Amino acid sequence: MSDRFPELELDTPEMERLLAAVSARVVAHVASLPRQKAGDVEGGAALARSLVEAMPEAAGSLDEVLDLLLERAAPKSFNCAGPGYLAYIPGGGLFTSAVASLLGSAINRYVGVWAAAPGLVQIETNVVRWFCDLAGYGPESGGILTSGGSLANFSAIVMARAARLPEDFLKGTLYVSEEAHHSIKKAAQLAGFPVRNVRAVATDALFRMDVAALRAAVRADRAAGLQPFLVVASAGTTNTGAVDDLQAIASLAAAERLGFHVDAAYGGSFLMTERGKAALQGIERADSIVLDPHKGLFLPYGNGALVVRDAAALRRAHNVTAEYLPQAQDEPGRVDFADLSPELSRDFRGLRVWLPLRLHGAAAFRAALDEKLDLAAWACEVVRELPQVRIVAEPQLSLFAFRLEPPALDAAATDALNRRWLEAVNARQRVHLSGTVLRGRFTLRICVLSFRTHRERLQQGLDDLRETAAELC
Ligand SMILES: Cc1ncc(COP(=O)(O)O)c(C=O)c1O
Repeated sequence: MSDRFPELELDTPEMERLLAAVSARVVAHVASLPRQKAGDVEGGAALARSLVEAMPEAAGSLDEVLDLLLERAAPKSFNCAGPGYLAYIPGGGLFTSAVASLLGSAINRYVGVWAAAPGLVQIETNVVRWFCDLAGYGPESGGILTSGGSLANFSAIVMARAARLPEDFLKGTLYVSEEAHHSIKKAAQLAGFPVRNVRAVATDALFRMDVAALRAAVRADRAAGLQPFLVVASAGTTNTGAVDDLQAIASLAAAERLGFHVDAAYGGSFLMTERGKAALQGIERADSIVLDPHKGLFLPYGNGALVVRDAAALRRAHNVTAEYLPQAQDEPGRVDFADLSPELSRDFRGLRVWLPLRLHGAAAFRAALDEKLDLAAWACEVVRELPQVRIVAEPQLSLFAFRLEPPALDAAATDALNRRWLEAVNARQRVHLSGTVLRGRFTLRICVLSFRTHRERLQQGLDDLRETAAELC
């Protein structure tokens, strides 16, 4: 049986053959994730060079293509889908969501405007509603699904700019903590603000925005003739998982007549848990919130979300009409997502969230997120007991930071030692960690977020940390 498909339109047996072949290989790949290395990019540059190719003229072999992808290219990577991935902000990639991608692309209907696919748009609208409910928003709220947190932050800043500043907006200043994700600065830049208009406010001992410093910065800017318009809080920073004091910042934003946006790309999913709700108290007072389902809802990459308290404000910032588009909807409940977003044509993202929630149920996600909170708290206690280790940031959610600090070493030598520690742990390829720089010092961090990470794998990582530290010190 040929594994080549020279015709663009596949007949039924060909479709079945293609799906069966891909399905067998994909299932084997996913089942083997725990046995795959946690991260291995050695020889990656040579591999990449060997894959440079011209556009192929003739039909190629499916088997060869699957070998190339699954046997050659994929193994040389950080295994972000595997249980040992504790670096940056993990996600995992739920299989049911991957299946939703296939379904959505095979159905391939247009979901940018309600009139083109009312039922499918309703499915995506439901997902946005669920996220608004999680945020504690009321009936006027709405939002969009984006490709990720960066684009969601971008639309939030565009919305605040349109709502709060004149067309000539270059005096507008916005405020983030010095620990905020760089996508905010990038979003501000893309929205037309000079980088100097983005104020990085100092943080307190817990790496949370210093609210007194924020107030002082806003007042100083106003006194200098600038137009403070937006404060962006973090609900789970990438470096340490710090959750800013959302109640205090909300009150300050209200008193100073500023917009209030929360980047909850990492922490937002924990709103499904009681502990997460307690940690993120006050988030419902924000004008807009970024959630990132490809992080804390364990979806494959390509799934972000922005929810806003007032959907009409999002629409005013993005809405541009054209003669050739179907009539826009004013009916309550009927959403034209293209009117709320920078995008017109795009994939059916809602299905990638909806299908896993329908198939597993929210309880399964809540339980997995609670497990991550427990695992991080436990792992932090184990790390604390390692000789010469200092916990630099306690877990506020499922992330903590730590470093070796032997008393005899100076700052530079201590940083070098910690870099070697990170390399040594990662070289064992059972877990993959990443480091960062906190207050000028190189620091290791563990973020437990994948649904595939359980205690056994974390124990292996902790053993590796203990043994490599003993070798190095
Ligand atoms: C706190 C925070 N905000 C925003 C982002 C950007 O999200 P994305 O990578 O989905 O664009 C990240 C990514 O890690 C993040 O950790």
